[in-house]
Amino acid sequence: MTDATRETIVQLLSHMRDGKEVRDYLNRFARLDQSRFAVVKVGGAVIRDDIDGLASALAFLQTVGLSPIVVHGGGPQLDTALSDAGIATDRVDGLRVTPEKAIPVIRQALSAANIAIVDAIRACGGQAASVPTGVFMAECLDESVYGRVGEPSGVSLGLVEAAVRGGEIPVLACLGETGDGKLVNINADHAVAALVKALQPYKVIFLTETGGLLDDKGEIISTLNLASDRDRLMSADWITGGMRVKIDQIQALLDDLPLTSSVSITSPGALTQELFTHAGAGTLVRRGERLLTIARRADLDWDRLESLITESFGRPPVAGYRDTVAFERLFVTENYRAAALLTRLDDVAYLDKFAVLEEARGEGLARAVWQALVDHAPQLYWRSKTANPVNSFYFQECDGAAKTGQWTVFWRGETDLGRVPALVQRVAALPETLGRAV
Ligand code: ARG
Repeated sequence: MTDATRETIVQLLSHMRDGKEVRDYLNRFARLDQSRFAVVKVGGAVIRDDIDGLASALAFLQTVGLSPIVVHGGGPQLDTALSDAGIATDRVDGLRVTPEKAIPVIRQALSAANIAIVDAIRACGGQAASVPTGVFMAECLDESVYGRVGEPSGVSLGLVEAAVRGGEIPVLACLGETGDGKLVNINADHAVAALVKALQPYKVIFLTETGGLLDDKGEIISTLNLASDRDRLMSADWITGGMRVKIDQIQALLDDLPLTSSVSITSPGALTQELFTHAGAGTLVRRGERLLTIARRADLDWDRLESLITESFGRPPVAGYRDTVAFERLFVTENYRAAALLTRLDDVAYLDKFAVLEEARGEGLARAVWQALVDHAPQLYWRSKTANPVNSFYFQECDGAAKTGQWTVFWRGETDLGRVPALVQRVAALPETLGRAV
């Protein structure tokens, strides 16, 4: 694929109905160090039933300059190979008990699945590297119970990073080696967890045939914010044991990742839409943040609030800000990534600061903070500099606005319209609360 072709495809995509969205996601993903873009886990059933869909989705990502890292299982393939070889396998605690004589069969079957994926990607014009072993270091779990089943004890990223540097999609099988050189079978979800911990990717993607987590009506749950949705979901009467395990696994993955990372469960055919649109196609799971309402000055972490303000406006609050501001309430996410500081101008509620970290935009946090604010203060005034990009949001949310010098003053919920002009003058004349650019 030449750069020109790539550029043409990106251009075409950008002009689709959701073109701006697509372009923004492309830019966001392309800015990442590509070995940290995405870890994609593919189950054995997808390899068996939809390998062409899988390969074309992966090759497409490569075409637009992105480099996913693929980890695959091979449950059905192993079942067939082992039964053909006359080796019976049992499961204990969901893990496949692996007698030593099964290892050559497993190695053979997983390598075949691995090469099939690589070949399929190449057939779609993509470049891929087969990495069946050499990544996962492992320890035998308990050889007397499980046989040759290993838990990852470390990850060597050399082969993975070399493939990415060379413009190839690394395709990893879940085989590990113990310190004394024994080959062991690793559960694919455990392998993914170890790799994710080592790479700290922006996305972790599970490609399944169902294409997402299903609710009680069998419909795909579009988003899951663990901080706010987990308890309700886990205690629902329809949730299955398998789904609980899956959610616990995803929670554990996200707990090891930055808050900006997310997990998507989707299908090969829906992957592009999932990645490049806001609405996605599949289930997006985030760790999420709880929203706090702080009513007492002393409960507020002023240092964190000031650094949030400084980072999101590029300017720090003026000296003495925290001591003079007429504090009323702070609506803030638990990690201080988005906040609204409500103050009081005599008998009027005044929004003094609404700050959201750049990296946290698009997570729905600003919306949640805003909602808590206006629920608490239905009658509200605020102001912003005329060039502030947030103004289009403010214009949607306000009942009215007036431009006065460098300020636009907004209000909503005002019942006594007669006092608006005086309040607008008053708000516009408030002293500057941000200092010099940092
Ligand atoms: N494209 C974004 C992402 O990959 C958002 C996906 C939203 N997906 C969803 N199922 N709601 O992070």
